[in-house]
Amino acid sequence: MTAVGIDAIEIRTGKLKLDLAETFAPQKGEDPEKYTKGIGLEQSSFPDVYEDIVTMGANAAKSLMDRKGLVPDDIGRIDVATESAFDNSKPVSTYIAGCLEQVYEGDFHHANKGERKFACLAGTQSIDDAYNWIRAGRNRGRAALVVATDTALYARGDPGEATQGAGAVAMLITEEPSVVELSTEQGYGSADETDFLKPNQQFPSVDGKRSVQVYLARMREALEDYESVAGDTHPDDFDYIPFHTPFPGMVRKAALLGYRHMTRGTDVEDALESEIGRQPREEAYDSWDDYEEAIRGYMDELKETEQYREWYERVIDPTINISSQIGNWYTGSVHIARLSALKTAAEEGKEMAGKRMLVGSYGSGAQAEIHAETVRDGWREEVTALDVDDQLARRYDLSYDEYELVHDVHNHDKEVDVEEFTHPDGEFVFTGWGRMNERKYEYVE
Ligand code: CAA
Repeated sequence: MTAVGIDAIEIRTGKLKLDLAETFAPQKGEDPEKYTKGIGLEQSSFPDVYEDIVTMGANAAKSLMDRKGLVPDDIGRIDVATESAFDNSKPVSTYIAGCLEQVYEGDFHHANKGERKFACLAGTQSIDDAYNWIRAGRNRGRAALVVATDTALYARGDPGEATQGAGAVAMLITEEPSVVELSTEQGYGSADETDFLKPNQQFPSVDGKRSVQVYLARMREALEDYESVAGDTHPDDFDYIPFHTPFPGMVRKAALLGYRHMTRGTDVEDALESEIGRQPREEAYDSWDDYEEAIRGYMDELKETEQYREWYERVIDPTINISSQIGNWYTGSVHIARLSALKTAAEEGKEMAGKRMLVGSYGSGAQAEIHAETVRDGWREEVTALDVDDQLARRYDLSYDEYELVHDVHNHDKEVDVEEFTHPDGEFVFTGWGRMNERKYEYVE
């Protein structure tokens, strides 16, 4: 069976940034370390006044097409994953295709376009759709373009305000890909939950504390489901484990839970026995609550062990480097985590070809999905071709007053006239509304 997976990746960050320690924390009267250490975020990205989910997605897609030398005829499918859509009927992928048609010869009339929704999980689901389309032999030799694009804003004053972010990840899905091959095996953890939702409203209704618990519960279910088809997992099986990263502190919790689960009944549990005892077993407890409390106690000790700390620094830490500088990109976040791991590996001169990653995606509402990926020979060339550091360094640093204005600019219920903070240069920009209230875009040289 030929390999199917991710052949190329490009990202586009919103061109503004908010510094959480320097700018946000003092205004909130909070200790900066709540954000930098507790939540794990240094900065968040925001879109300038001429940017939105379409411009960020189209700009990421254009970079990808230019770098890979693609024309519209090479792409048979454009799937956009977003939870920031502004239209309940016309998909964002049509806008992005329209942008790209302004600058390339030919068109995307032959391309199947759609928009995927399952909160932050939709980016991974779009990759799945592309994978299945290629595996089914329906692609006629063409590649699929998947764009995960979001402006993750919360209502002012919501605890989630500290975790905002904006940006897009464009990914090309092909046969014999250069970056990673996806496993056929997948695991799901899915349940009807009301942890985070946007019932026809722009800003989410969030039960933040509960959303953390739901994330962990669904992720655990997905891991068990994955193991039921792929066999038991062990921490040594994977060089990196990129998780959906709403904020790095969430990943710290998921990693500890995953490590505990993967090491149960293994040599690692044996090696740790003299230090912290064996993992609690449910059958030894009279009630579920007693068992849970014992598990929590075990995990508190586990996270302080040398084995766990070494594993976390090697396998998890590299996945959150980029995220800590950009905030939550919702549908793009897990794809940023994968990229962050590979970028760190390239910087450290590590050889990754043939190595495996376990990828944990999550969407509120709620569903987790877990699959494995095998890194391909071309990964280094692809990953080092990206200009992530430059994009992040070029962002305009907002003052708090400017941040408030930018939040208002992107608030659908407000009309404010704000000057742009940066100048468009060789990119798609939002120019205003058309006669049917559609959004209009232009390529600026
Ligand atoms: N120094 C160091 N650490 C500090 C600190 C300080 N001075 N002050 C606080 N902390 C720590 C806290 O101990 C806490 O860490 P632990 O959870 O490990 O104990 C952490 O910083 C955050 O502090 P709080 O819990 O007090 O923060 P909060 O209540 O203001 O907000 C939140 C946290 C509820 C998660 C909020 O950010 C939120 O609602 N976020 C949006 C929802 C979200 O992202 N949920 C994640 C799962 S859902 C999902 O993944 C989908 C998605 O993308 C939205």
